[in-house]
Amino acid sequence: MQKHELQNATATDRLSRSGYCKKHGEYVEAGRKLFGHEIWFGCAKCEEEERKRQAELDKLEEARGRAWSYRVLFGEWLPKAFDLPLESFEVVDAAMGDAYCIAEEYVRNFHRYRSEGRGLFFTGTAGTGKTKLACGVLKSLFPDVVGCYVTLSDLGDRVRQTWRSASGESAPFTEAQLLNAVYRAPLLVFDEIGTIAKPQDGELLFKVINTRYSNLLPTIGISNLSLTELCSLYSDRLSRRLEERSRTVVFDWTPWQERHQQNENGLFQEGER
Ligand SMILES: Nc1ncnc2c1ncn2[C@@H]1O[C@H](COP(=O)(O)OP(=O)(O)O)[C@@H](O)[C@H]1O
Ligand SMILES: [Mg+2]
Ligand SMILES: [Zn+2]
Repeated sequence: MQKHELQNATATDRLSRSGYCKKHGEYVEAGRKLFGHEIWFGCAKCEEEERKRQAELDKLEEARGRAWSYRVLFGEWLPKAFDLPLESFEVVDAAMGDAYCIAEEYVRNFHRYRSEGRGLFFTGTAGTGKTKLACGVLKSLFPDVVGCYVTLSDLGDRVRQTWRSASGESAPFTEAQLLNAVYRAPLLVFDEIGTIAKPQDGELLFKVINTRYSNLLPTIGISNLSLTELCSLYSDRLSRRLEERSRTVVFDWTPWQERHQQNENGLFQEGER
């Protein structure tokens, strides 16, 4: 009997009436009666939209915080000239189109590649847009994924800076913080591998690549050298690590600036004729 009364009480507590939302039109508004007061909940679709908007804002704020932590360690999240989405990579021939499509597909299916620890390896002539395309990947994954960008020599210099700071000068970060960032970033763009052959950087390079490899974390490695050349410069252990879970993209077209100079000269000559 008591139970029956309780059920009735609950039933009468719930209210509903027809409502009108400027955005969503007519709807059934839910409400509740509490100690004799009526409370109305408004448009459920508006509420859901507001909840989603708030979740997006929270995600953005968290992502900005992560980018900021890379900035503290490496000066910038991305180099200023490359802080642009993937679409800013202009495609003017088929080979560039292939490279762009690989990068675009990588972004689209990043969650799968991430779980498999699969990365990319960009190799080829200087000035062909390797850094630009890789930074485009990072930028396009933001804010879902906040990856880290660093060049090998910059990482090496910063690590050495923390050693010096032990004897007086203070660096705003520790070696452990720097290494943790590159070891654990959900995606690392590791640029200029092998450009400057500092022997001490070879060890650091292998440590970073190998740690990420062991933890199934994806890396985009960038080098002017091929895997074979890297192998003879550093070690075959390194090139095997890079090769096993990375798709190699060869940037073998005319460097961007040269191509533009050629175009400008071409136009100029035409104008003269
Ligand atoms: N496809 C492209 N579209 C627009 N700009 C490009 C493209 N490729 C290269 N660039 C520009 O050319 C310059 C060299 O590119 P960069 O990414 O530094 O080459 P790499 O890393 O291969 O040496 C940069 O200023 C870059 O913005
Ligand atoms: Mg570059
Ligand atoms: Zn509404």
